[in-house]
Amino acid sequence: MLQKYDPRNKDILIYVKDELVPRDEAKVSVFDSVVQGGDAVWEGLRVYNGGVFCLDRHLERLQHSAKAMAFTQVPTSEEITEKLFETLKANDMYDDTHIRLTLTRGEKTTSGMDPRLNAFGPTLIIVPEWKPPVYDNESGIRLITSTIRRNSPMHVDSKIHHNNLINNILAKIQANVAGVDAALMLDAYGFASELNGTNIFMVRKGELFTPHADACLHGITRGLVIELARKAGIPCIEKNISLTELYNADMVFCTGTMGELTPIVEIDGREINQERSVFTQLLALFEEIKGKYCIPIS
Ligand SMILES: Cc1ncc(COP(=O)(O)O)c(C=O)c1O
Repeated sequence: MLQKYDPRNKDILIYVKDELVPRDEAKVSVFDSVVQGGDAVWEGLRVYNGGVFCLDRHLERLQHSAKAMAFTQVPTSEEITEKLFETLKANDMYDDTHIRLTLTRGEKTTSGMDPRLNAFGPTLIIVPEWKPPVYDNESGIRLITSTIRRNSPMHVDSKIHHNNLINNILAKIQANVAGVDAALMLDAYGFASELNGTNIFMVRKGELFTPHADACLHGITRGLVIELARKAGIPCIEKNISLTELYNADMVFCTGTMGELTPIVEIDGREINQERSVFTQLLALFEEIKGKYCIPIS
């Protein structure tokens, strides 16, 4: 398993609802919507060198997810930022930190699906932990293709970053059973969509390809990599990508807050070519802009 408990997180303070509490006391009600129906939206963020990376983009996506889910009484991005910075400062966390930020629809007056039972407004949960990126950008990760498909807008729009993660968790279980690091998920037509927790890219003859963000999350890191590539003159094309194309690519890598940019070295038992020049160039560009895209903790 690539993730494990870090003893530095033993005494961290967590923000739940309106207060900062030690992790053992950080709890939500059994009537909270996240318990009742996974009815919540979330963001994973990283802190680098005194700032929160792409905080503006993450908060915009959170607000869009909350609006798509018709949440009411949603705190503004400024209010969330204030609570986030308060939490990081209380924990003295200015680097090497991962933040799991969740906004649930809030507590219900009685159990049930109906959002009209939510009389108290959303619950904000901020979990900051000491955590380096989960994947290694040198050794890379191994994948299997999951039988679980990623949702298209036909079912639940993958552009909502919601807490109903059962599809992705089932895919991850298949990866665990197969003894590899993560699962590649296909869309409804059998084209590659994304991994269970990151987006996917393929390099072929100096060009970069990634699936349309129709059945995958429109990842912040994915968006940045597309921007960086195009600025550097590397053609980046969004298209349907089949498994055969991935198996035969010059290189395949994944992107996301959990691992930044990570090579994929094996898919379904096929060794993937490691022609890394484009990847190395993108990784260097990503490192270069990290500071510039961080919103300082104040
Ligand atoms: C399913 C899925 N895909 C991709 C990503 C990567 O997105 P980002 O680059 O915004 O971290 C995430 C991150 O939470 C995710 O959950």
